[in-house]
Amino acid sequence: MARYEATVSAPVNIACIKYWGKRNTALILPTNSSLSVTLSQDHLRSTTTSSTSQEYEQGDRLWLNGREEEISKGGRTEVCLAALRQWRREVEDKDSAAPKMSEWPLRIASYNNFPTAAGLASSASGLAALVYSISQLYQLPQTPSQLSLIARQGSGSACRSLFGGFVAWEMGERDDGADSLAVQVADRDHWPEIHALICVVSDAKKGTSSTSGMQKTVATSTLLQHRIKHVVPPRMTEISRAITAKDFTTFARLTMADSNSFHAVCLDTSPPIFYLNDVSRAIISVIEELNRAALASGAGLVAAYTFDAGPNAVIYALEKDMPMIVQTINEFFPQSLDFPDPFGVLAQPSARPEGFN
Ligand code: ADP
Ligand code: DP6
Ligand code: CO
Repeated sequence: MARYEATVSAPVNIACIKYWGKRNTALILPTNSSLSVTLSQDHLRSTTTSSTSQEYEQGDRLWLNGREEEISKGGRTEVCLAALRQWRREVEDKDSAAPKMSEWPLRIASYNNFPTAAGLASSASGLAALVYSISQLYQLPQTPSQLSLIARQGSGSACRSLFGGFVAWEMGERDDGADSLAVQVADRDHWPEIHALICVVSDAKKGTSSTSGMQKTVATSTLLQHRIKHVVPPRMTEISRAITAKDFTTFARLTMADSNSFHAVCLDTSPPIFYLNDVSRAIISVIEELNRAALASGAGLVAAYTFDAGPNAVIYALEKDMPMIVQTINEFFPQSLDFPDPFGVLAQPSARPEGFN
């Protein structure tokens, strides 16, 4: 009996202008636009195999890192699967020879090659890989931006992992979310000199998930209102311009300022959320000192730190400066580079379906 299968990998993306807050929790519509860099999938990636067969027992099933996860009724994964099935139905309606896969159960198995739920964007690569693998399985004609509408409903940050390079998630205005999607600002080849160093400070699962943390911030932080109205909108314009102009100093200034603004609204949440730890703060001090010395010598900024919802640092720098930065980090934090191959470089998320059988 026919069984169909597709395997893809999707990389993580690390935001320079952070998404933090939903205006609609069911559809995952954000309170501000955001912008990120998609890393090479040679480093941090989710690899997902989806398969379907008429012979499978009823009910969709999902395994994450070898352990079965429940697909809860009305939950985000189910929402994504329902939307993908709807698009598959349109394919089947147009082509009567197409197998009626939309009616068959799905089996999905995913592996992350890096710590899950530790603030290294596993929900971004994970949900992007899930949506992309099923779009391959179903042979859907939709574009990456259209697929980003579905990935967004799995995890907001996932919508940006459907593109390589520099990617904006435009918050949109509509109540139905049809204009809240990812667009590519520039591809990787536009600015290949930018590299990212991933410093794994802790691989432990975070105490407060991104989903619940941002809901508490929306409910209690007055500083968030200032951030979404007055801070983020001009930064989105400025950082897009900096990327277009390959202006690293402006890119770095905005990236560090926005990471600090995001962690400030976490602190302004009641009860306060602490994602950074002492090592994270020490990394900030070291990079600030490197930048101060560079400016004093008449050069531009050399590095930009950014932290997602966890203590782990991502440091953006130009390739020419990276050896000095790695050496400095290694000197100050001899333990912090024990994660295998901590070097990230940008790349297209060239997901590779293994084909149909
Ligand atoms: P992170 O900082 O790693 O993105 P989050 O709290 O945002 O942490 O999300 C972690 C959750 O994302 C996991 O508990 C799991 O539900 C989901 N997730 C992570 N990786 C995958 C994957 N490869 N496939 C499906 N879901 C995943
Ligand atoms: C700090 O996308 O993980 O990494 O939409 O609830 O799944 P959900 O949250 P998630 O939040 C990411 C927050 C962030 C910033 C960012 O990636 O823009
Ligand atoms: Co996440």
